[in-house]
Amino acid sequence: MAIEPIYLTTPLYYLNDRPHIGHAYCTVLVDAMARYQRLFGGEVYVLTGTDEHGQKVQKAAEKRGVEPQRHVDELVGAFRDLWPELHIRYDDFIRTTDPRHAKVVREVLQRLYDQGDIYAQDYEGWYSTAAERFWAEDELVDGKCPDTGLEVQLIKERNYFFRMSKYGARLEAHIRDNPDFIQPAHRANEVLGFLAKGLEDLCISRPKERLSWGIPIPFDEGYVTYVWFDALLNYVSALGWPDDPKFARWWPHANHYIGKDILTTHSVYWTTMLMAAGIALPKRIVATGWWLSEDRKMSKSLGNVVSPLGMKDVYGPDVLRYFLLRDMVIGLDSSFSEQALVRRNNSDLANDLGNLARRAAGLVGRYFEGVVPEPGALTEDEAPIVAKAAALRQALPGYVAELQVHTAIEETMQLVRELNKYMTQTAPYRSVKTDRAAAARSLYTVLEGARHAAVLLSPIMPVKTAEMLRRLGAEPVATLSELAWGGLKPGVRLDMDKGLFPRRELPKAQQPPTHQPGKAPVKPQKKHKSKGEAAPTADGVITFDDFMKVQLRVATVLAAEPVGGADKLLKLQVDLGDERRQVVAGIAQHFEAADLVGRQVVMVANLAPRKIRKVLSQGMILAIDTPDGGLSLVQPTGPVEAGARAH
Ligand code: MSP
Repeated sequence: MAIEPIYLTTPLYYLNDRPHIGHAYCTVLVDAMARYQRLFGGEVYVLTGTDEHGQKVQKAAEKRGVEPQRHVDELVGAFRDLWPELHIRYDDFIRTTDPRHAKVVREVLQRLYDQGDIYAQDYEGWYSTAAERFWAEDELVDGKCPDTGLEVQLIKERNYFFRMSKYGARLEAHIRDNPDFIQPAHRANEVLGFLAKGLEDLCISRPKERLSWGIPIPFDEGYVTYVWFDALLNYVSALGWPDDPKFARWWPHANHYIGKDILTTHSVYWTTMLMAAGIALPKRIVATGWWLSEDRKMSKSLGNVVSPLGMKDVYGPDVLRYFLLRDMVIGLDSSFSEQALVRRNNSDLANDLGNLARRAAGLVGRYFEGVVPEPGALTEDEAPIVAKAAALRQALPGYVAELQVHTAIEETMQLVRELNKYMTQTAPYRSVKTDRAAAARSLYTVLEGARHAAVLLSPIMPVKTAEMLRRLGAEPVATLSELAWGGLKPGVRLDMDKGLFPRRELPKAQQPPTHQPGKAPVKPQKKHKSKGEAAPTADGVITFDDFMKVQLRVATVLAAEPVGGADKLLKLQVDLGDERRQVVAGIAQHFEAADLVGRQVVMVANLAPRKIRKVLSQGMILAIDTPDGGLSLVQPTGPVEAGARAH
């Protein structure tokens, strides 16, 4: 079945920021989506770029004493040159200072003006220079800008307005009729809530005496275009709207990927602008969550940013990509920490994936002269592996279409873990002495499974997986339809001497990032304190603050096995959303290990780790004794995100 093409866009990044992990995430995600699309045999066009007009850029250029154009020309490389370093490929890079873009902005403005959708009016409002926009009095927080917390000025001036209010009802109907339009679905409700309050018209001009660094309004040269009205049009100007065949080819397949903070501008300003200009709406708008650092959105003004280049230089681009895509559920927030990245690298990549290929290759080197052995006829032992690989090939496009990238990765890693288990169970290092064909079959299965994992993870780690395929002596696989069990050719030589994913030392607990001069340091989060809070009392009553110290979190059980020599203990591997943990629980007499896999339990996540019967336990699972002498696990009543906090 032919798969629909996709036109994927990232937001245009403001040049006044240095790129950080938050920016890198959105661009890496779009790149991975594009690679999945190609792997599934579909066509794709990727656009990214930079947002270069506005007051902040003008001021920064003035401060340096250079022309704004020269200033932006010097800054654009920070973004444009970063993407290839993270193995990101794009088809076009648009700058809002490109003449091809300015032409389209002016054309749309003129069209809307001519048809009466833009009008001039005197306007008085509170203007925030930092946010580059007006606020209504009742939107201010303590008299300050609600976005930045900075001073606002009362400004009265004549400006141009876009009749956005005219299109509110049509937009609402479109959102209701197209449940897939804004993703994740709860964001659509947010937009509907916003629309329900009534849509106002949008101020789309700035007088030149206040801001000159912008695209001049075609029907009044005394004004420049408001940055958002300018920047949003990039999605069509890059395709050469209205006449370039590229526009007709790609626009019907537009998928905008953005952060949740720019949802309103995309789902309300942009869509109504398109309606007014007579252009079809994009197919889908996907709003991602934020990467948090120190529990707050990573941002330059908070001084808590993590540099993607710094992380890439230490851990490599593919490991960084893996972490960003595995540890974020699209649409939710996630915390960035170097520790979590290292844990993920060590557990998934060094331990599970890297070891698998290396263990098998080592045995092939020792017993089969380093060449892939003949599998012979498969037996019952291999059947679940072959079936799991086939199921994955089938399911992957669905996960990606549903934006479940973390599940696509996790399911592939489940195959890897099953392969590790299969290798331990079939023990080719033992069988080779008595049944050489069985050892050959077992090693072939593991290598072929590793090849599958490499192909299925190639959108996430394009370079590492290509290297893995090369070392396995496997041909590159262009599309999923070419991936079938048995593709690895017996007789080819392996080249697996060095590990592909080195283990890393866990870095020391992170210091709060040192703030740079002139920047606000990260403020510690306010402690939650209830009124008239009592001190701890002798009868065991604790304060709310004491209770909040206990981190109760939902963990998904990934694997469970008995602890040797202890009939009550089970060793569980659990997923806490942002990390994997091992927990020893005294529940073996009540539960079969296999029955626990996939279940969600509640655990104390910040208990100091300790060894139980020499096995490390990093947390405690909550359970309740039942009257009949049994045990009941504390569980959420429905599926929730792994790592969610109970409170
Ligand atoms: N220039 C506008 C977008 C115009 S699109 C026509 C803008 N730029 S931005 O540089 O401030 O942000 C670009 C994107 O980065 C936004 O989608 C924003 O959500 C994302 N991120 C910025 N910080 C982020 C995190 N800490 N985490 C994840 N993404 C965040 O807005």
